[in-house]
Amino acid sequence: MKVLVIGTGAREHALVRGLAADPSVEAVVAAPGNPGMDAVALCVPLADPTDGAAVADLATSLHVDLVVVGPEAPLVAGVADAVRDAGIACFGPSREAARLEGSKAFAKEVMAAADVPTGLAHVCTTLDQVEDAMDGLGAPFVIKDDGLAAGKGVVVTDDAEAALAHARECLAKEDGRVVVEEYLDGPEVSLFCICDGRTVVPLAPAQDFKRVFDGDEGPNTGGMGAYSPLDWAPEDLTEVVVGRIAQPVVDEMAARGTPFVGVLYVGLALTSRGPRVIEFNARFGDPETQVVLARLESPLAGLLHAAATGTLADVADLRWSRDHALTVVVAAEGYPANPRKGDPIVGADTIEPDSGAWVLHAGTALDDDGLLVSAGGRVLSVVARGSSLKEARQRAYAAVDAIELEGSHHRTDIALAAQRGEVHLR
Ligand code: AMP
Ligand code: GLY
Repeated sequence: MKVLVIGTGAREHALVRGLAADPSVEAVVAAPGNPGMDAVALCVPLADPTDGAAVADLATSLHVDLVVVGPEAPLVAGVADAVRDAGIACFGPSREAARLEGSKAFAKEVMAAADVPTGLAHVCTTLDQVEDAMDGLGAPFVIKDDGLAAGKGVVVTDDAEAALAHARECLAKEDGRVVVEEYLDGPEVSLFCICDGRTVVPLAPAQDFKRVFDGDEGPNTGGMGAYSPLDWAPEDLTEVVVGRIAQPVVDEMAARGTPFVGVLYVGLALTSRGPRVIEFNARFGDPETQVVLARLESPLAGLLHAAATGTLADVADLRWSRDHALTVVVAAEGYPANPRKGDPIVGADTIEPDSGAWVLHAGTALDDDGLLVSAGGRVLSVVARGSSLKEARQRAYAAVDAIELEGSHHRTDIALAAQRGEVHLR
C-alpha cells in the first residue's frame, strides 16, 4: 500500500512513522511534511493543504491507495470529499461530518439528538445573551468561539470582565457566535475513536496538558505534552465512552446521511456525575497521537484503510504495548501568543534510538545552509517509552535536556501528578 499523509506537525510525523512501520506499506508520502519526516517518507510540496482539488490531483498522480488527512482545516474545507470523489480511499470525515469539530453549536445539537452527556450550553450571537447565560451558569465562566480557533478559542476564567472581553472578540468576527458552557470539573481525557461510518474502534485513552505553564497556569495552547496509559482512569472508561458517546454520535451522523469516517476525538471531563463531552474533534489530537501511536502494536495502515473503506468490523482486536509513553512539547519563545521563528535547533539528531526516546518534528524547517531551525510555535515533540511512567518521564526529559533552542520553553510537570498518584476522580 502507498499512503499520502497531509500535514506538517508532530502528529503527522507520528502518523508517518507508524504507517512506515506497517509491513503492508511500501511507501509513505507526506505533503508538505517537515524535515523530520524525510527519514521515513518522501516529502512533496503542497501550497495549500485546504485545496481539495490540489490534494486529489496529488493523490492521483502519486497513485496512492490511501490518503490520511491530519489537521482539521482541510477536513472542514472538504478535502476528504474531493479525494473520495477522485476514487481514492480517504481517512478523514467529509466536510459535513467535520462540522462536529468545525462548529461547537452543531456538535451540541448532535449530542442533544443522540442523548450524549455534555455540559449545559447556550449559543449566543449578542453580548446581552452572553451576559444572561453567564448569570444563569455562574463562575467559572467557559466562553467558546463557535468556529475553528486552533485550540485557542476557549477561555475559562472566574473573571467576568475577561470572559466578556473574549466573547466580544469572537462576536466581532463575521457571523461570530459564542458558546457559553457550564464549567465541567474533573480530570480530562482524550479518547480517539476510529470510525468507518458505522463501526467504532477505540484507541487507548491519553491525557493532554493544554495550559502553557507548569501547574496548569497561563493561556490554553494546542497542547504541551501528553501521556498514555492512564492508570488512574476507571477500567470501563473506554467501554462507557464508546457506548454512551461515540457510537450514538456515529449512529446519529449516519442517520442524517452524513456518516463519520475518520477519527472522532472525544475530549472528556470525568466529572462526579460521569464522563461529559468537552469537545469533539474530527481528527487525531496533537500531542496525544504521539503517545497513543507509540504504544499501538497493530498495523496502523491496515486500521486506517479499513476505516476509509467501511471494513472496520473485520479488523482484529488492537494490540497494545504495556509500556508507558510520554511526550513533552518544546515550544518557541513567545508561544502561544507570538512565537519567535528562525532559531537554530541543536541536538535533536543526537538522541540515540536505544535511549527509549525519539524526536518528532512540528514547527521546524531547513535554512538556506541546510541547518535545522524553528519555524512555528510548537517546534518539537519529544517522545519516550518506558516500563513505568517514571522511566518514560526520565527518558523524555533527558532527551529534552539534550536539545538546544534559544528561548524555548517546555512544561516540566507532564504526567507528574499521575506518577505521584495524585490524579483523583471526583
Ligand atoms: P476545547 O477547545 O473545547 O477543548 O477547550 C479547551 C480547553 O478548555 C479544554 O481542554 C478544557 O481544559 C477547557 N474547557 C473547555 N470546556 C470546558 C468546560 N465546559 N469546563 C471546564 N473546562 C473546559
Ligand atoms: N491536543 C488537543 C488537540 O489536538 O486539540
